[in-house]
Amino acid sequence: LGSLWVKLLETEGALITDGFHVVGRKMSDSARAAMLDLMPDSADKVLADQLLRDDPEIPALLRALSGRFISPVPGGDLIRAPEILPTGRNIHAFDPFRMPTAFAMQDGAAQADRLLAAAERLPRSVALVLWGSDNIKSDGGPIAQALALMGARPRFDHYGRLCGADLIPLAELGRPRIDVVMTLSGIFRDLLPLQTRMLAEAAFKAATAEEPLAQNFIRAHALAYAEEMGVDMDTASLRVFSNAEGAYGSNVNVLVGSSAFGAEDELADAYESRKSFAYGRSGKPVQNGALLQKALKDVDLAYQNLESVELGVTSVDHYFDTLGGIARAVKRARGGAETPVFIGDQTRGAGTVRTLRDQIALETRSRSLNPKFYEGLLRHGAEGVRQIEAHVTNTLGWSATTAQVDPWVYQRLSETFVLDEAMRKRLTGLNPEASNRMAQRLLEASDRNYWQPDADTLAALQRAADEMEDRLEGIAAE
Ligand code: BEZ
Ligand code: MG
Repeated sequence: LGSLWVKLLETEGALITDGFHVVGRKMSDSARAAMLDLMPDSADKVLADQLLRDDPEIPALLRALSGRFISPVPGGDLIRAPEILPTGRNIHAFDPFRMPTAFAMQDGAAQADRLLAAAERLPRSVALVLWGSDNIKSDGGPIAQALALMGARPRFDHYGRLCGADLIPLAELGRPRIDVVMTLSGIFRDLLPLQTRMLAEAAFKAATAEEPLAQNFIRAHALAYAEEMGVDMDTASLRVFSNAEGAYGSNVNVLVGSSAFGAEDELADAYESRKSFAYGRSGKPVQNGALLQKALKDVDLAYQNLESVELGVTSVDHYFDTLGGIARAVKRARGGAETPVFIGDQTRGAGTVRTLRDQIALETRSRSLNPKFYEGLLRHGAEGVRQIEAHVTNTLGWSATTAQVDPWVYQRLSETFVLDEAMRKRLTGLNPEASNRMAQRLLEASDRNYWQPDADTLAALQRAADEMEDRLEGIAAE
């Protein structure tokens, strides 16, 4: 009962979005009050309230279109950093020489400790997904976590500019150096070249430090890879992987979105072929699929941060594309053993580390199945239905990549959006294509054995899908 109570509180307190932002449309009084409520107590809320009342965005857009000056502002998250208001300015993101900041380093170390505490036993190697936008929103929080796990810190020159990484002595670190297989989004690689090289330097320095192997898993793994592959330590210590220059994403989302995969290991193939470009200290990528394979085989858990309330792991297809993709690749490299997957939720308080299974359950309850959330989307008509359908597809993406979606999720999504006749009619009226795709996706989840609906549910789902199909054919004939 105690843990049920905690779950209820967590679900009730989860932050969710309220429909979409429409450029030029002012916030309602209640929406503005709710947003002010979430801002830190240290914020100037009177000023924030004033700035949120205006609509600066259309005037700014018109000024930009007439080639006039737009005042600059660092990018950031409205709730965490209300000092970025008013919106409608020219976002210059961050100072690349000062990331990660001292605060991010302190917070990153705490997050890394939280992850280690959540793991069943001390991991020897962690697969960490790094996104560009998340690091911008947090001044380098996830980068700082990678450094903390390896036992490293950024080095700054006499002008205070980032110029590399140094190791924290083992005595100060107080635990072994954890190996970290870092996979960068293409956006991270493009935006943060200094940080990419710094992370590569941290891995190299750890791999070549004269330290006991029981206290330095990076070195233990790198020595083994050098020996087994006949490569030098420069190569054996490469841990920063991304796409080829100019390429983005792992294509796992495309394969899931178009149902164009057979066995789930095909998703691991796509991931590895796209993300096997190693970025070393020079910043120049070299494709090395064999090394990525070696490193994946030693990974004990996969992990990514969730930095903003705007998105959850089921709202866009990029989370399962990156974190799901690598989790599947790890699973395959380890001969099919389940990979534990964790989410570091940074959106409330000091942050919480959850299993992916718990994160999906929480988002399903607080977002997908929550009338407050889906009615907010349905206010926008056809696009709202498309977003609900996207949640269903992204959920299937997690099943395909990690198998960590509980069957009740599909059952309740089916009951709420397809089997309920009034809701089905409403969604079909607003967006017949997306409604049909949703029903087909739920059937696909059953075909792929991600859930096992009883015969009545399956028949009802099939009937609803057939009915929608007929309707779409009718529309096409007209
Ligand atoms: C990024 O900021 O790195 C990112 C954003 C959206 C999707 C994928 C990556
Ligand atoms: Mg943080």
